[in-house]
Amino acid sequence: MDIVKMEGVVKAFGKVQAVNGLSLAVRQGEIMGFLGANGAGKTTTIKMLLGFFRPDSGLVEVLGGDPCAPSARAKIGFMPETAYYYPFLNVAELLGFYGGLCGMAKNAIKRRATKLIARVGLSDAGKRPLRSYSKGMLQRAGIAQALLHDPDLLILDEPFTGLDPLARIRLRDLIIDLRRQGKTVFFSSHELSEAELICDRVAIVKRGGLVSCGSVRELAGDGERNLERIFLKALGAEAHGGGRS
Ligand SMILES: Nc1ncnc2c1ncn2[C@@H]1O[C@H](COP(=O)(O)OP(=O)(O)OP(=O)(O)O)[C@@H](O)[C@H]1O
Ligand SMILES: [Mg+2]
Repeated sequence: MDIVKMEGVVKAFGKVQAVNGLSLAVRQGEIMGFLGANGAGKTTTIKMLLGFFRPDSGLVEVLGGDPCAPSARAKIGFMPETAYYYPFLNVAELLGFYGGLCGMAKNAIKRRATKLIARVGLSDAGKRPLRSYSKGMLQRAGIAQALLHDPDLLILDEPFTGLDPLARIRLRDLIIDLRRQGKTVFFSSHELSEAELICDRVAIVKRGGLVSCGSVRELAGDGERNLERIFLKALGAEAHGGGRS
């Protein structure tokens, strides 16, 4: 079953065509990496999957329906590219706040929060306010927040950015664990080595359109075995040019 379905999706901001005829399907239980250069349209696509933006045209379906439906939202965990959390809260309070918004019972929030805080390696910093957190610590708090309500679909916008090697390994293990539980994970990334290690399939976008999609093995069909090379090839010479690709 396709957990995410996009067909011919278009989204422009004034003259900027952020997403341009994107068609993509994410299957249940797979880990899909969403790759592309800066400005390629990844975050805009993710925001449409979450119902934050409506597409100008085309179809966006998540968990078999409208991404804005409360029933769909309850089953999606999201970690934004840049999070703005209340700086005076500590991580347990942050999770308490989000759990309350999700309608979780206090006991359930506490149980799950303690487990997740340990899982992302924030137990020692648990009592400190978020304003004292480093970038990577905030990333970890964001991962815990996205997982709090045990979502079926996890959408992560550049989750590996800013993480130290141990935290990366932890996140990798965590994502693989989620797949073991039958969850679906869709994440954008510039970390090609991480994508190569854990993704069942990767989708490469350029100028808001899909240029390549498949397992690394499938994409390597033409001889390039390394995802970095596959990525550069998919984007063409412009990969070195900077700006929108
Ligand atoms: N709210 C907005 N208003 C105007 N233009 C926008 C807006 N959001 C995105 N864009 C433009 O849409 C294009 C795609 O942006 P998007 O943030 O989706 O890229 P991205 O692939 O996530 O890039 P990055 O890897 O840098 O995060 C860019 O040209 C960007 O400037
Ligand atoms: Mg982005």
